[in-house]
Amino acid sequence: MFLPKLLEQAQRGERLVALTCYDATTARLLCANGVDILLVGDSLGMTLQGHDSTLPVSLADMVYHTAAVARGAAGQGFILADLNFGSYQASPAQAFASAAQLMAVGANMVKLEGGAVFVETVQFLVQRGIPVCAHLGLLPQSVNSTGYSLQARSETDAQRLLDDALALQAAGASLLVLEAIPAAVAARVTAALTIPTIGIGAGAACGGQVLVYHDLVGLTATPPSFTKNFLIGHDSLAAAVRAYAEAVKTGHFPGPEHSR
Ligand code: KIV
Repeated sequence: MFLPKLLEQAQRGERLVALTCYDATTARLLCANGVDILLVGDSLGMTLQGHDSTLPVSLADMVYHTAAVARGAAGQGFILADLNFGSYQASPAQAFASAAQLMAVGANMVKLEGGAVFVETVQFLVQRGIPVCAHLGLLPQSVNSTGYSLQARSETDAQRLLDDALALQAAGASLLVLEAIPAAVAARVTAALTIPTIGIGAGAACGGQVLVYHDLVGLTATPPSFTKNFLIGHDSLAAAVRAYAEAVKTGHFPGPEHSR
């Protein structure tokens, strides 16, 4: 699926449903059960590889998993691939060379973590035909600076996040992931932007939601409080994914218990 179709959905007021996806079988499952965006997240470093952060994930890992997801999706679903730590921070040219590898194996868009410092990089990619999703709030690749705690809690930090979001949108980003920020801050950012926001631990006001698949099906030993195990009460992976997609579309997930 290409970006214009995804954005049309958002413009019609439909909430976007996203889930992490790292392999062909899961890609087929998600495409058949109402998921719009398959996020080949660098969270695979933790969920698949057993690391305690996303930092060790390589570009070769991301290319391998993006290619597998693309084969499974077979033209359905929108494939969003993470630029891994160290593959884009040095320069716009480095980001382009990395993103090109992901696009060549089937990504429809790449995602990078960070604020106004990446405005030039976003412009550089977008002007060269690579759609970009920005990512603000909790930035797992910056865990050594911030830890994994809720971000943008003070008014100063919330305002900085809003300024970053506006700058990234002006640079050409087409989507914005908001991770682990207060629901009120996400609502404010969402209202100020024309591009859709996709929340994870950021409340119900976002234009869509994303979860880590392993959290959704109960495979994570200590899942974050903002996730929900949708396999509980459902008798198959397909039913769990469908229930998540339906809950996002109808505004029933996330509830107040999943946000702060
Ligand atoms: O890598 C990932 O799974 C992500 C989500 C947490 C948004 O970036």
